[in-house]
Amino acid sequence: MKITNNVSWVGKIDWELRKFHGNEYSTHKGSTYNSYLIKEEKNVIIDTVWKPFAKEYVEKLKKEIDLQKIDYVVANHAEIDHSGALPELMHHIPDVPIYCTKNAVTSLKGHYHKDWNFVPVKTGDTIDVGNGKSLVFVEMTMLHWPDSMASYLTGDNILFSNDAFGQHYASEYMFNDLVDQNELFHECIKYYANILTPFSPFVTKKIHEVLEMKIPINIIATSHGVIWRDNPVQIVEKYLAWANKYQENQITILYDTMWDGTRIMAENIAVGIKKADDKVNIKLFNVSKTDKNDIISEIFKSKTVLLGSPTINKGISVAIAGLLEEIEGLQFKNKKAVAFGSYGWSGESIIKITNALEKSGFAMINKGFKCLWNPDDDSIQQCISLGVEVAKSQ
Ligand code: FEO
Repeated sequence: MKITNNVSWVGKIDWELRKFHGNEYSTHKGSTYNSYLIKEEKNVIIDTVWKPFAKEYVEKLKKEIDLQKIDYVVANHAEIDHSGALPELMHHIPDVPIYCTKNAVTSLKGHYHKDWNFVPVKTGDTIDVGNGKSLVFVEMTMLHWPDSMASYLTGDNILFSNDAFGQHYASEYMFNDLVDQNELFHECIKYYANILTPFSPFVTKKIHEVLEMKIPINIIATSHGVIWRDNPVQIVEKYLAWANKYQENQITILYDTMWDGTRIMAENIAVGIKKADDKVNIKLFNVSKTDKNDIISEIFKSKTVLLGSPTINKGISVAIAGLLEEIEGLQFKNKKAVAFGSYGWSGESIIKITNALEKSGFAMINKGFKCLWNPDDDSIQQCISLGVEVAKSQ
């Protein structure tokens, strides 16, 4: 698939993918592994595809170019979804230089135990591809791995951004102006929330660094999902907003429940929030029945999160414990929270949840609210009052 006269997409659309990073990321709409072929006076491959598609990738690539005519390989990122076909490709062209960061050399050697012809590069290093064009390298350290980098093709003004600005979103059309915009941005924000949130300070710094270089960018060719050719700056602006302690006018109530006590509490807290503020977007999710990455997207959009668990063995449910582990790693900023839950004997769940959320940087609105056995009329009123308090504390 042509991107410009001399640049083609030679990647893989993976419609079947439903889980990525093992089981860590849900991909309801599949994904793509984008590899690019630049044919100028020099021929360059930028990134490859995930390992299961290595043979298919190389066979298809042979139809695009005589592999012996490839002059350079660029590995923008060492993670397996982009480097997985390198062993198959390098088997055919073992002496071709691989341009990547110093960290990527370590990482690629760690993954594949091969001593290929690595050429470590730094920000500002270039390779001449002929016809007056060059590839300029820009280190993208911690966006999202230590080895990540982007490559910029002068003349065509294409930024090969690797993971940055991507989405796990399969499409036969592959350009941002040809796909459903709601689907596209839903996948973009999910990708940012789940993968890039902890690296937000690096996102802001790197985007400003690239903007200050004042290089024209006509196309952002990511390594997952569609290629941004229509107003590519729009996704850069979204990233700047998402990196800046992002929140929408949303309060999310997350809970697990054994015999419905904590569910009834959640629903009545929602009644109280709506009573005090009928403009705020209120969403409820049973964490044990909902995809965890979708939940992370909802937390990312929220200004306040209420997290409820019944007390089980002096602790909390496995689903809530797992979510708290995710939350701790993602380091959300600028969010408030409250713990709640029903109990029968001791009622430790709200203390555990409160402590965990505080440790993760959430501003706790109060010490949490627990309800003995199933909520009676009095407890239901207290849940409604809690909802009102939460809405008024914004
Ligand atoms: Fe798409 Fe960090 O790999």
